[in-house]
Order: sequence, then structure tokens, then C-alpha cells
Amino acid sequence: MASPIKKVAIFGAAGNFGTPITAALIAAGFAVTAITREESQSVFPDGIPVIRTTYTVERLTKALAGQDAAVCVVGPGGIGSQIAMIDAAEAAGVKRFIVDDFGWGPESRSLPEFDAIGAPRKAAWDHARAKAKANSAFSFTGVSIGNPIDWALKRFPAMGFDVTRHISIIYDDGTAMFTGTTLEGIGQAIVGVLSKPDETANLFVKARSLLTCQNDLLLAFQSATPGHEWEIQHARTKALIEQGRAKHASGQGGWILNLVVAQLFEPGEGRGILAATREESDADLLGIQEETPEEVVKKALA
Ligand SMILES: NC(=O)c1ccc[n+]([C@@H]2O[C@H](COP(=O)([O-])OP(=O)(O)OC[C@H]3O[C@@H](n4cnc5c(N)ncnc54)[C@H](OP(=O)(O)O)[C@@H]3O)[C@@H](O)[C@H]2O)c1
Repeated sequence: MASPIKKVAIFGAAGNFGTPITAALIAAGFAVTAITREESQSVFPDGIPVIRTTYTVERLTKALAGQDAAVCVVGPGGIGSQIAMIDAAEAAGVKRFIVDDFGWGPESRSLPEFDAIGAPRKAAWDHARAKAKANSAFSFTGVSIGNPIDWALKRFPAMGFDVTRHISIIYDDGTAMFTGTTLEGIGQAIVGVLSKPDETANLFVKARSLLTCQNDLLLAFQSATPGHEWEIQHARTKALIEQGRAKHASGQGGWILNLVVAQLFEPGEGRGILAATREESDADLLGIQEETPEEVVKKALA
């Protein structure tokens, strides 16, 4: 491996995205250490060192000693610890800190209801940027992925495909294009960043496995499930936005999923497109494979 980055610590190693990232880093030959909370119940892959610690700057600096890079892929509950992780990484001499994005990046055009969730993330990104500006030995990268497509299709029937009951909900006319990155692509994105630290320093990269739409996915689901008749229902993103907004305004849960799905499929808005073409993405730089709807659907059904 030509990269000067060899030892990588990961926060959130057993999470939804931390799991494929950890596997990809190990497969690519990086020496991976998981850093986890004292109270964590997470289960880590056999054979990787695990450091259990409280998330203060002092303790995290000790935990990160000797690491070349750190990846922050904690879930929403951990975002508040990210500034301490960044301070500790710099203090420990970590060269690259991958900030927690795995969403739509700094240019996200998400609906305003998401502003409050986005604010502490952006504060941590700004903090990393300021640290990198002041200290040339420290750098950061953000990895935007758009829709985590194979994981999301399997997990959220509200995305329009109930894979156990073979029911599809097509929003509007089903032609709104959006970009997705598979779990494999997410893992490869992190390997790509740490393999090419110069090209990926102090910026957000755009991962992408494909550009697709609901109608293409429906065809792929139908051809991947012979013998099953898909029931096709129709819904409108406008109604979904109204539902989500009403829940948000009255403090009810469920608004996030409503609005995430609506903004992915809303016609004419393009909010679900991170990179309209492969060339506009960093997929080639990072070594992420282009995938077809058929390949993605196979993974969602596995
Ligand atoms: N683009 C999208 O549509 C999309 C979808 C889902 C997620 N995401 C984003 O992707 C990132 C990773 O999400 P994920 O779903 O992989 O996360 P996750 O599986 O929910 O959690 C990952 C890890 O976060 C750590 N964690 C949880 N609560 C914490 C706390 N209070 N303090 C510190 N650490 C905590 C835990 O690690 P330990 O137990 O080891 O401490 C957990 O295993 C997040 O930024 C999330 O918002 C984006």
C-alpha cells in the first residue's frame, strides 16, 4: 500500500455503515482499531483491537495515540461527541479525520425541517476545517453517499418496495432520478479516501454506485422475484410532505422517514441527486464500482 496511512481507528465500527467500512478497511490491508463507549453493547469482528473509553478529549487522545487516521461513523446519538474526537485526533497527531457525513454533504438541499438535525453536524465539519487550516499536519475528509440504497431498500418499505410482501408504492410517476451508494460502495469510499490522502484532503467527496428511479427498481424487483406478483400502489410525494410536516409541527415521530422519502422522489426537485453523472462524482477516484438496479436489488433481497 503506497498510502502513508496504515493504522486506522474507527468510531462506530459495529454500526450500519461502520460494519462494511471496517470490513473493507481490513480487506484492503489497513490495521483497524475500534474505539467504543464504556457502556456500548456493540459486538466487533474477531481479531480487531477494541479500545473502550469515555469520550473526553483527554481519554480520546490516549485512545488515538499512534493512529494515522480516524473514521467517525457514529449514529445520530454520537454526533455531539464529534468535536471532542476531532480535538483528540489533532492532539494525538492523527493525520486524517473522516468526519461523520454519510448523507448529502455541505451542499445538501434538504427540506428546512432537517436544519436542526444538520446544525451540530455542520458545526463539527466547520471545526475540522478550522483545525486543518491552522495545522498542516492535520486534515479532514467528508464522505457523502446520497441514499444508502441496498441497506435502505431492505430496511424501509416506505422507500416503495416491501420485499417480503411484494408490495410496491410508486410515488407520482416513478421517474424521479436519485443517486445511491451501496454498503460495498460506502466501504470502498473510505478505503479510497485513505488510499489517496493527498487527493482527498480537506474536502467532501461524493460517493455513488448508481443513478436510478423507482420505475427501474420495480422492473428489477419484478425480474428478480419470478413467481411473485407485485401489487402496485400509487402515492404522491406532495401528500407525504404534508404528512411529514404535520407530524414535525406537532412533535410526533415518523416525520423524518416521511420527508426523507418524499425529498428523494419529489418530481422536478432533484434533491435526491448527489452527482448527476459518474464524472460529477468521485467514484472513479475512490475506486467505487458502478452498479445496475438489478445488482442493487439482488443485494436488497439477499
Ligand atoms: N444517507 C442516509 O440516508 C443515511 C441513513 C442512515 C444513516 N446515515 C448517517 O450515517 C452515519 C452512521 O449511521 P449508522 O446508521 O451507521 O449509525 P448506527 O448504526 O445507528 O450507530 C453507529 C454507532 O454509533 C455509536 N453510538 C451510538 N450512540 C452513541 C452515542 N450516544 N455516543 C457515541 N457513539 C454512539 C455506536 O457505537 P459503539 O457502540 O461502538 O459506541 C453505534 O454502533 C450517521 O451520520 C447517520 O446519520 C445516513
